[in-house]
Amino acid sequence: MQPHYRFAGFMGRRVHLGVTGSIAAYKALDILRALQEADCRVSATVTEAGARFVTPLSFEALGASPVYDAMFGGSGKGDTSFGHLEPGQDADVLLIAPATASTMARLAFGLADDMLACQALAFPGPKLVAPAMNPRMWEAPATRRNWATLEALGYVRIEPDSGNVACGDTGAGRLAPLEQIVTATLRALSPQDLAGRKVLVTLGPTREPWDAVRFWSNPSSGTMGACMAMAAYLRGAEVSVVAGPTALDFPDGMQVVRVQTARQMFEAATDLWPSMDVGCATAAVADFRPLPFGEGKFKKADLDGDNLMVEFEPNHDILQAMGRAKTGGQQLIGFAAETADLQAEAERKLKSKRLDLLAANDVSEAGSGFASATNRMFVLDASGRRESWPQLPKTEVAWRLWDHLLLD
Ligand code: CTP
Repeated sequence: MQPHYRFAGFMGRRVHLGVTGSIAAYKALDILRALQEADCRVSATVTEAGARFVTPLSFEALGASPVYDAMFGGSGKGDTSFGHLEPGQDADVLLIAPATASTMARLAFGLADDMLACQALAFPGPKLVAPAMNPRMWEAPATRRNWATLEALGYVRIEPDSGNVACGDTGAGRLAPLEQIVTATLRALSPQDLAGRKVLVTLGPTREPWDAVRFWSNPSSGTMGACMAMAAYLRGAEVSVVAGPTALDFPDGMQVVRVQTARQMFEAATDLWPSMDVGCATAAVADFRPLPFGEGKFKKADLDGDNLMVEFEPNHDILQAMGRAKTGGQQLIGFAAETADLQAEAERKLKSKRLDLLAANDVSEAGSGFASATNRMFVLDASGRRESWPQLPKTEVAWRLWDHLLLD
């Protein structure tokens, strides 16, 4: 998983994982590991059909506890008289992944004819379902109806992916990617304190073309912005991302506009900004763009003299434009990448860009800045608070920045 999916801090929260009889059942082991990396405690129920693909012992060996299997006379450690009720009393979230067509039917009709079906029926908290099956089974009217019923019953539905499936058919029915399943689960566990807020995040570098094959850019990976977007999404915000060229992907629930140049980023961000509640500018925008060489590729033979001279013209300051257009109810978060005079520069940018909150870091320091998984931040806000944070994972920096904004 890319770094912006690796949120931790869910210590003390328990996910009960239901695993049913699909070839994708082996992927439930990765789900278990990913949830443990988020600090969640995981218990599991492996149905009889599920256990034909992956044994309950595999889940136990990886630390799931308790692990249930059959309702009567099962071998799982979790087989107590009231095992069919226990996750409902103790776990925070029930995640069924993969869910077969027959499991979906059981859940939709409220059947209680196996351990997992009973546990689901008796589960009062958030329930998530991630189906996996043959595309024709997925398209079948009965499955469509059950899928709609699950929505009406309040299940969080994680849509299957399209592609080749094990039996050789192609279409929708593959288990959703790990990232989508983990994100939906962590969202169900997160405080929804940003619910109802529309958040815009700019992220990544921009690329300013010079000739047909060359551009001016910087090494930003977009990770800090992706962490801001993800933290807001997990906490219930409606998130729009304007991303420069980056290899990062985002959960299905976010609106993502991909751009290349600073001018395109400016257009996309300023278009969206009036309808947003919070803007968060993490993009490493090129402040200048080279005057284009011409139509084709620059050849060495085109050189006039010994040195190549390239002229640059200024790009818009996107955050400054958002600051100028900011209305009473809107809030703006900026970032500052510095190599000297960190605090003074941060103070200047907080004021000149009309920000509510600014996080500044020294990008020349190891473990802070471009393409790093961590950052050491100096954080300042418009109400006068100044804080120096230790080096933290970018996921944690993002979570704390949203905490900080909510305090104001
Ligand atoms: N920013 C922006 N558009 C630009 C330049 C910067 O939106 N053309 C935003 C960045 O996303 C960041 C903040 O402004 O949130 C500060 O960016 P930074 O590169 O640190 O500073 P600059 O404003 O470019 O100023 P300087 O060149 O003096 O460092």
